[in-house]
Amino acid sequence: MKIKKAVFPAAGFGTRFLPATKAIPKEMLPLVDKPLIQYAVEEAKASGLSEIIIVTGMGKTAIEDHFDTSFELEMLLRERDKTELLKMIENVSGMVHFAYTRQKKPLGLGHAIGITKNLINNEPFAVFLSDDIIDSKTPAMKQMVEVFQRYGTSILAVQKVPKSQAHLYGVIKGKKVAPGVYKVLDLVEKPKSNPPSDLAIIGRYILTPGIFNSLEETKPGKGGEIQLTDALKILIRTQDVFAFEFEGTRYDAGDKLGFLKANISLALKRPDLKADLRKFLRNIKN
Ligand code: G1P
Repeated sequence: MKIKKAVFPAAGFGTRFLPATKAIPKEMLPLVDKPLIQYAVEEAKASGLSEIIIVTGMGKTAIEDHFDTSFELEMLLRERDKTELLKMIENVSGMVHFAYTRQKKPLGLGHAIGITKNLINNEPFAVFLSDDIIDSKTPAMKQMVEVFQRYGTSILAVQKVPKSQAHLYGVIKGKKVAPGVYKVLDLVEKPKSNPPSDLAIIGRYILTPGIFNSLEETKPGKGGEIQLTDALKILIRTQDVFAFEFEGTRYDAGDKLGFLKANISLALKRPDLKADLRKFLRNIKN
């Protein structure tokens, strides 16, 4: 079965980036010269997904404007013969089909996914947490779609993390079934101590629509929020769920240090910036 739809939860307040995010959505902070969320949207497109559902909230209209056509800007660029820029702008608005829905209360990631039930319409779908930037040869979601085609059920992206970092993630307990693939036996959201393994969930998921029933049964967990990890724990009682160690470097752009690292690493890959940036970094004294 083909995966067409992707859910992008984007209703959070972005408190870790205040004051920058007081009037601008966190998803619109630039990584080099593209808003954060555009990286994951491009990954979705490159993975063959064609319908993007963005779950927004108050103060997030800049995201909708970004992926919309900008008639005045396009006209101005055309008049001034800025063909390259024009192409870039048209690419953004013509990327894929976008739909928006609002999460009216900040009740957590699981709740944000739950409200897309009617838009998903009973088919497997992808979830992207756009804070997680993944730089890889094959787009991370494309790798996951291939695994989904083999197993035909929910797939979670995981990566090994030091045990000291496990409290920042949903952590799985898994049984290896193939290279890089684990059957999920248990999950814990942000374990304070004794994580069940070093396999942490990274923000890419393929979920079967069965998750919606599980979400309805899910009680508020960590931080008083409806956690997707807790819903998956319910789902594994009735369906197989697999975890997949994707190939690629992941940056947590939702964290200040991770955001800076992502900016530097991505800029170092850009032909127009890399030489001068490298020189600058080498000469930094303290
Ligand atoms: C969310 C999930 C967590 C996952 C993480 C990946 O947490 O709840 O299970 O490991 O994303 O980035 P957040 O970082 O939004 O608190």
